Amino acid sequence: MTARALRLGMVGGGEGAFIGAVHRMAAALDGEWRLAAGAFSTDAGRNARTGDALGLDTRRVYESFDAMIAGERALPADARIDALAIVTPNHLHAPMAIAALEAGFHVFCEKPMAMSVAEARAIADAARASGRRFALAFTYSGYPLIEEARARVARGDLGKIRLIQAEYLQGWLSEPIDNAGNKQAEWRTDPARAGLGGCLGDIGTHAFQLAEHVSGLQVESVSAELTTHVPGRRLDDDVSALLRFAGGARGLLKASQVAAGEENGLKLRIHGERGGLEWSQMEPNTLVLRWLDRPAEIVRAGGPGLQDGTAKLLRTPSGHPEGYIEAFANLYRAFAAAIHGGDEDRWFPRVTDGLRTMLFIEAVIANAESDQKWTMVDPGENE
Ligand SMILES: NC(=O)c1ccc[n+]([C@@H]2O[C@H](COP(=O)([O-])OP(=O)(O)OC[C@H]3O[C@@H](n4cnc5c(N)ncnc54)[C@H](O)[C@@H]3O)[C@@H](O)[C@H]2O)c1
Repeated sequence: MTARALRLGMVGGGEGAFIGAVHRMAAALDGEWRLAAGAFSTDAGRNARTGDALGLDTRRVYESFDAMIAGERALPADARIDALAIVTPNHLHAPMAIAALEAGFHVFCEKPMAMSVAEARAIADAARASGRRFALAFTYSGYPLIEEARARVARGDLGKIRLIQAEYLQGWLSEPIDNAGNKQAEWRTDPARAGLGGCLGDIGTHAFQLAEHVSGLQVESVSAELTTHVPGRRLDDDVSALLRFAGGARGLLKASQVAAGEENGLKLRIHGERGGLEWSQMEPNTLVLRWLDRPAEIVRAGGPGLQDGTAKLLRTPSGHPEGYIEAFANLYRAFAAAIHGGDEDRWFPRVTDGLRTMLFIEAVIANAESDQKWTMVDPGENE
């Protein structure tokens, strides 16, 4: 029997916003989700126009998050939303996620998970108590060749892992556009809405999550520097960190939003005793493997030699490029499967990934502000 399409509500993602529209495309891609309700903006006009453009029933375009939770709860179970996508700035993630879970809805939340470790733990508690599913939008872990890389490392192809390097370079904050009306830049550089980290929370978390996810190893301690290059900016726009992983691997994390001219230069390199791998977000359908004792290999999305788990994440034959939206859609598919209670093999980032990234943010900040060479990263709990 085919599972019914799940009903999605959305908070944030109004006219002019960035990631909400990406969530809507990703959720819709495989027909497993249908947008049913939203509170898209605190600006009434933008909210109404967004709902109208998306063809929603006006009764389900709510004036606020609270009104949406109350309104949806009042509907019969076979009409109300199944899950809520939270695509607002960071300071709203925890209060909204907790309220939605407590009201009985599954939650797909944007990263960073929260403003602090304490808030992340409160979300974890609410998810556990509610029995509802909680997914986090660590988008890049939905790419098929990231799964390929993870599976190959896990089965030991590279041997014992020694080196892990993750970098995420953007250039869009090279100038003080935060003070010149750029909406996305404005809240990202405001500690009250972005959190303790600027670039660290915004894209450093992606690099960190990918490094731990693909290597299967946890960062145990960090030695870091946070820099603010643009005068007057209130949060870091540049991060450098040395990483010590469990088992002895050593790593580097570089994240910057002032790398002038860079787009979304997310790269991961992992080397073990026998070889290494390299993956780049801007060429996501190629995975390069290098070996100590034989020529390098190029693994292609849809090409020969893929692991079973990778093939499940592809939709088109090799050479027809799949990208960012499809990677995001893989997370929505896995989230839907978990809600339906089947296909538990489909992985998606969840509470543990979010908590780990919050623990990392706090450890980096503590280290950067101290004279200590190394700061431990709390292992966190299992979900
Ligand atoms: N997963 C990724 O790769 C990725 C990429 C970009 C952004 N993000 C994350 O997504 C979130 C949003 O980022 P963005 O770039 O889309 O920001 P944005 O400023 O473009 O959009 C934020 C939206 O939230 C709305 N909003 C704010 N407060 C609200 C409230 N109380 N009720 C309803 N709507 C409200 C705004 O009106 C706007 O429509 C952030 O947490 C960010 O870190 C993740």
